Amino acid sequence: MKCTVLTAVMLSGLVEIAIAASPAYPEVDLVRAEEIVSGRCFLCHGMEGESSTSLYPRLAGQHYQYVAKQLADFKAGRRQSDTMQSMAAELSEAEMLALGVFFEMKPAVASPVGDADLAAVGKFVFFRGNEYSGVAACATCHGQKAYGTAQLPRLAGQGARYLENQLKSFNRRERTNDNAVMHSIASRLTELEVKAVAAFISSMR
Ligand code: HEC
Ligand code: HEC
Repeated sequence: MKCTVLTAVMLSGLVEIAIAASPAYPEVDLVRAEEIVSGRCFLCHGMEGESSTSLYPRLAGQHYQYVAKQLADFKAGRRQSDTMQSMAAELSEAEMLALGVFFEMKPAVASPVGDADLAAVGKFVFFRGNEYSGVAACATCHGQKAYGTAQLPRLAGQGARYLENQLKSFNRRERTNDNAVMHSIASRLTELEVKAVAAFISSMR
């Protein structure tokens, strides 16, 4: 009996230690990450991951696992981009992970709605899809708030032009890595739906 109680106490102690020692992010070298970002990434993605134009993806608030995976794919040429392949060429796995954590920790920003009518069409597509052409609602995978998951990118607040470009490149299979799911969705979107859903998503916060 005594022994069981002791074990229970020891176990609860262990659990506490385990919780205290497992923060939301893995342990990474954030100083090194900042050095890399201020050396080159900031030119396009900004020091805060806010990006200098909506052509370049916003990285603020993006899941670190997704960022690290994309960097590894750019480096290996699995996701083709001349710009990003040269940016990722020298990065180690540890640096990719650190860059991911660096950017996920930055607060995400959203864009103001430009064309409210267009965004309203996009809102419909985002939450309801298009049952007439077989487009699944974006929210079913990317989440009601478009925050994504560790395996699935956050979309909320992403730049409209970047979103449009990615949807088009998924459609043409020019986005070469992991494009199966998004290809089948993007290939059913009309030009209007692409613009509309991009406008809506970029305003989500
Ligand atoms: C000259 C501009 C430029 C610089 C500098 C740059 N990037 Fe990029 N980055 C881009 C572009 C353009 C894309 C989109 C590529 C595509 O079309 O697939 C991109 C895409 C990405 C993505 C994928 C985002 C997503 O949502 O899928 C990540 C992650 C990324 N960059 C990280 C970095 C890091 C880290 C650095 C610094 C080591 C860096 N970038 C430097 C232009 C740049
Ligand atoms: C069945 C699940 C599913 C649905 C539904 C879905 N997506 Fe995706 N989406 C994914 C996955 C998985 C990825 C990540 C692909 C990768 O890892 O490269 C993705 C990636 C994306 C990206 C790339 C983001 C970035 O940062 O580069 C965009 C943009 C996107 N989805 C938009 C949409 C839109 C808009 C809709 C609704 C019209 C939608 N998705 C519906 C699963 C889905």
